[in-house]
Order: sequence, then structure tokens, then C-alpha cells
Amino acid sequence: MKKIIAIILAAALLLSFAACAKKSEPTSQAQTEVQIEAHSKETSQSDKKILTVYFSWSGNTDAFANYIHNTVGGDIVRITPEKAYPENYDDVADYAKKERDDNVRPAFKDLGVNPEDYDVIFVGYPIWWYTLPMIMYTFFDTYDFSGKTLIPFNTHEGSGDGGTYKTIKELEPNATVLDGLAIRGGSIGGAESEVKEWLGKLEY
Ligand SMILES: Cc1cc2nc3c(=O)[nH]c(=O)nc-3n(C[C@H](O)[C@H](O)[C@H](O)COP(=O)(O)O)c2cc1C
Repeated sequence: MKKIIAIILAAALLLSFAACAKKSEPTSQAQTEVQIEAHSKETSQSDKKILTVYFSWSGNTDAFANYIHNTVGGDIVRITPEKAYPENYDDVADYAKKERDDNVRPAFKDLGVNPEDYDVIFVGYPIWWYTLPMIMYTFFDTYDFSGKTLIPFNTHEGSGDGGTYKTIKELEPNATVLDGLAIRGGSIGGAESEVKEWLGKLEY
């Protein structure tokens, strides 16, 4: 009797081992696929991490940033001042002029990402008083973009890039700073194809 029980137990054990072995097959195949996918992502050119980060007061640069993001993918974040700017144009004009004259570095809220974690950073802003808004100086003071590619873009109402691409090169001497694209704020609504064309030339 004991012998029969031992044989039944041994047979049950063998069957459960066989079942386990079968179950593990699809898992290991899936793991292999994940490994292959991870490897091809690592080695692909398109694996570069892309961030679009921008400041916008009245929404024009926001629209520009979204055209870029829609084409290049990656992450997008808006730089939001710790202390909100005045909503009225004359007030913000005075406020921004004083910020520039006093060379202040207005604080901005946590971006939720670390821009230094990206390989390619599209950086956008409006021209304020012929130059970068001072909050953009805070941005470039905060992060070290050595070895990264920075691609500036801006909106304006006549100043073009106002020499800001050169300024960014000076602020981030160890980054590769490409020549950017400046678009009139008043024309941004119809400028998506121009943005796409520019991105195409940059091979995005
Ligand atoms: C405070 C302030 C200063 C500005 N200074 C300039 C300037 O010097 N040159 C220029 O071409 N446009 C200037 N502008 C116009 C803005 O650059 C333009 O409207 C831009 O598209 C606004 O972008 P935003 O909507 O993303 O804030 C100024 C606007 C503001 C509010």
C-alpha cells in the first residue's frame, strides 16, 4: 500500500514540475522580447531624450512650444514664475523693465523634471526689452547644459531674436547651441508649417 502511495506522490510531483516548466516558457520569451526592444532603443539615434521648456506670458511662445512638441515628441514643461507677473500689459512692461535694470533673477516653480536629464533641449521665450526675460537668466543659471544640445526659439514683435541666441551661447559655453527660430507673436497662429519646416531642416 505504502509503495502505491509513494508511486502516486512521485507521479503527482512529476506532473506539477512539467506544468511549471510549460508556464515559464511564455514568460521567458516575453523577457527576451523586452530585452531586444530595450537594446534597440539604446542604440537608436531617435533614443535621444528631448525636452521642450519655455516661458510665455501671453501665450504666443506657448503655441510655438506646442508646435515643436507635437512634431518632436518627448516632454514639454512651462516655466512658471514663483511670483506671478502682472496681467496688464503696461504693468508687466514696467515690471519687466525694472527686473532687467536691477538684473534680478526671478524664481520659478519646480518644473517637475530635471532639464539636465535630457540630450536635446528646445528652449523658448518671448523677447522682453530687447533681450531674454530675466526669468530665463534664472533658468540658465540654475542648470548646467554642458555636452547637451540647446535649440532656442522665441517670439517677438520686431526684435527678431534680439541677439539672445548669442547670449545663450555665452551663458552655456559648454553646450552646443544651435541657431534658433524667431517668429512674430502676432503671426504664431499660422506658423505651424514654418515651425515644421525648420524642424525638418534640423532633422526632426
Ligand atoms: C514686458 C514685455 C516686453 C517686450 N519687449 C519686446 C521687445 O523688446 N522687442 C520685441 O520685439 N517685442 C517685445 N515684446 C513683445 C513680445 O515679445 C511678444 O508679444 C511675444 O510674442 C510675447 O510672447 P508670449 O505671448 O509668449 O508672452 C514685449 C512684450 C512684453 C510683455
